[in-house]
Amino acid sequence: MEKIARTKVKDLLRMQPGAPVLAKGWVRTKRGNKQVKFIALNDGSTVNNIQVVADMGRFDEELMKRITTGASLAVSGKLVESVGSGQAVEIQAESIEIYGECDPMRYPLQKKDTSFEYLRSVAHMRLRTNTFGAVLRLRHAMAFAIHKFFNDRGFVYLNTPLITESDAEGAGDMFQVTTLDLAKVPVHGGKVDFSKDFFGKKTSLTVSGQLEGELGATAVGEIYTFGPTFRAENSNTPRHLAEFWMIEPEMAFYDINDNMELAEAFVKYLVQYALDNNYDDLKFLNDKYDDGLIARLQSVLGIAFQRVTYTEAVEILEAAVRAGHTFEYPVHWGTDFQSEHERYLVETHFGKPVILIDFPKDIKAFYMKQNEDGRTVRGMDVLFPKIGEIIGGSEREASLEKLESRIDELGMSRKNLEWYIDTRRFGTVPHSGFGLGFERLLLFITGMNNIRDVIPFPRTPKNAEF
Ligand code: 4AD
Ligand code: MG
Repeated sequence: MEKIARTKVKDLLRMQPGAPVLAKGWVRTKRGNKQVKFIALNDGSTVNNIQVVADMGRFDEELMKRITTGASLAVSGKLVESVGSGQAVEIQAESIEIYGECDPMRYPLQKKDTSFEYLRSVAHMRLRTNTFGAVLRLRHAMAFAIHKFFNDRGFVYLNTPLITESDAEGAGDMFQVTTLDLAKVPVHGGKVDFSKDFFGKKTSLTVSGQLEGELGATAVGEIYTFGPTFRAENSNTPRHLAEFWMIEPEMAFYDINDNMELAEAFVKYLVQYALDNNYDDLKFLNDKYDDGLIARLQSVLGIAFQRVTYTEAVEILEAAVRAGHTFEYPVHWGTDFQSEHERYLVETHFGKPVILIDFPKDIKAFYMKQNEDGRTVRGMDVLFPKIGEIIGGSEREASLEKLESRIDELGMSRKNLEWYIDTRRFGTVPHSGFGLGFERLLLFITGMNNIRDVIPFPRTPKNAEF
């Protein structure tokens, strides 16, 4: 007999009935009676299963007993029109091969407990659930769309280092990278002698690729990075990871308005891409967990994001407090907004995504362009419903003098930053950029509530399993 090629479930579900087919996958469920069994088979190509109908006149009871949830199979048969509701086609099985059995007593996903907390404890297996399948496919689709968005606009993908000696961003505490024997640390003059370390100096994992990104942008014009970033901040929140992925475009000749336009077009493009290409997964997540998801995604597409200065935002929040609204953290000019403040602006006050600009310089990084008023900088945060900040960026300070004096003012070492300052020394240009937290974006796209559930293997304080 001629051997037929395997067809993925996603494609089977779109085929016309009639053809002989071969499907491979894992059993989601099995039900039925003495005459006929129905096996829902999934191979991860789609959230939907293909139904396999096994006529017990053709299969023996012993084989059928070994087919339990989680077992892996190859099924050949005929694709036929399905009489049952819920699917257009199903496979009338002619032969079934079991690749691997799956002990129902020991299979972690066999349990009744499917809470996200439980699934995090079996993160090596949770990928096989419908929910994480949907999340993984959406995560992939967004990564692909990000590259496509920038590629279509002529941006160059720049790979910035993960190991760095620069801690200039000041974005958070860094994880140190060392090969020194921690039980016998070399000491010189009372201090750790890093000259004996692998790189001959103290090094860490990067918190951001931006500073190197600026070197790229001032060379080839428009670049973006897309890679992992590491922050050793001890914040156990549903929005923080110790290892997360960030996309950082950096553009020569862009001012803050160009920057805002790009950021808005970028996230709208990604939302549209998900709706156009991953509707089944979104619908599944919408129906199972969050029936406002698809409406929320659509809601950001048609409208212009609200642009508001930090100072105006403080006035709005202070007015809210006067009108009786209570925030856990106090807010006044000069404070860094907490997520509750961001969400008030987005969800309660404006009812749409907000781009905050012109922050007090003391709460932002040294490289942001200083405004004429002497107290604010041209920073920009994009705030989204349910999440708060998903993007942080700015126009960069292009003036050598202003940049140097800000570095001095903050008591930072110019010596370690000479390479960066060279961009302002040699052919400086106005330029801007921002960073999108990939998992923050995915929180919005998937409707998940905890950032640990949009990355396959989350790293958080006291958790680096798998
Ligand atoms: O606002 P941040 O700290 O900005 C920067 O790192 C700049 N260098 C970006 C730039 O201008 N090129 O971080 C950018 C984004 C945040 O808006 C947030 O979405 C995400 O990164 N982010 C985190 N995501 C998960 N876990 C954390 N601990 C995060 N910290 C920041
Ligand atoms: Mg930020």
